[in-house]
Amino acid sequence: MELKKIQDIPHCLNRICFCSDYLEMNSLNHNHRLFAFDNRHIPELLSWIKTTSDLGYWAGNTFEEGLSPLIFSRHLARKDLTARMMVDTENRLLAYGEIVKMSSRLCSFCRIAIRPDARGYGLGKKFCGSLIEWVKSAQGHEEVMLNTLSSNHAALACYTGVGFKMISRKKKARLVDGIKQDIMKMNYLVRK
Ligand SMILES: CC(C)(COP(=O)(O)OP(=O)(O)OC[C@H]1O[C@@H](n2cnc3c(N)ncnc32)[C@H](O)[C@@H]1OP(=O)(O)O)[C@@H](O)C(=O)NCCC(=O)NCCS
Repeated sequence: MELKKIQDIPHCLNRICFCSDYLEMNSLNHNHRLFAFDNRHIPELLSWIKTTSDLGYWAGNTFEEGLSPLIFSRHLARKDLTARMMVDTENRLLAYGEIVKMSSRLCSFCRIAIRPDARGYGLGKKFCGSLIEWVKSAQGHEEVMLNTLSSNHAALACYTGVGFKMISRKKKARLVDGIKQDIMKMNYLVRK
């Protein structure tokens, strides 16, 4: 992907990194901290999902019956689900993702999203890398799984970039944008 020009970098990313150019921003990534998701950010998160296509790419068929702040807060109460976020220095949501416990050895990353105006600057990889570190340090899981759609090129590149490998492809398994898309299953093996 082509590097974006400095003047294109969203103000939020300059604020979080306290830096003046793209390369310097990448070298200061340690400023990105992972927090437990705060439900007060639900309206902001849901504002990123504007169309049924956005919903399909982000959450698959999880919210087929509809999505609202109330439905989402009930979703967050699931016992198997841990939601994490990154925020900027003004406490605006930058990144959201879930770690779903499948078994003692296996968890799944779900519903990962970066704020729309902050996409394409490396934050997705930074956030997913931090989720992996969290799994390694806190959970004792041996494997992380995730599903994404074959046409979600940004997500595929993001997950591959932090070490996920493709393990299977379910052909024409999900209808998004009026097109039946393949579901790509990926995994990350946690090194002990
Ligand atoms: C998928 C998503 C989380 C990626 O986050 P991001 O901050 O945009 O990604 P990054 O900037 O870290 O880029 C990661 C990789 O994707 C590539 N990429 C980014 N946007 C891209 C695009 N629109 N098309 C193709 N590749 C793209 C980057 O070049 C980079 O690859 P590289 O390491 O080979 O250079 C983000 O785009 C998003 O929130 N999408 C909407 C919700 C969604 O689809 N979630 C995934 C659910 S499975």
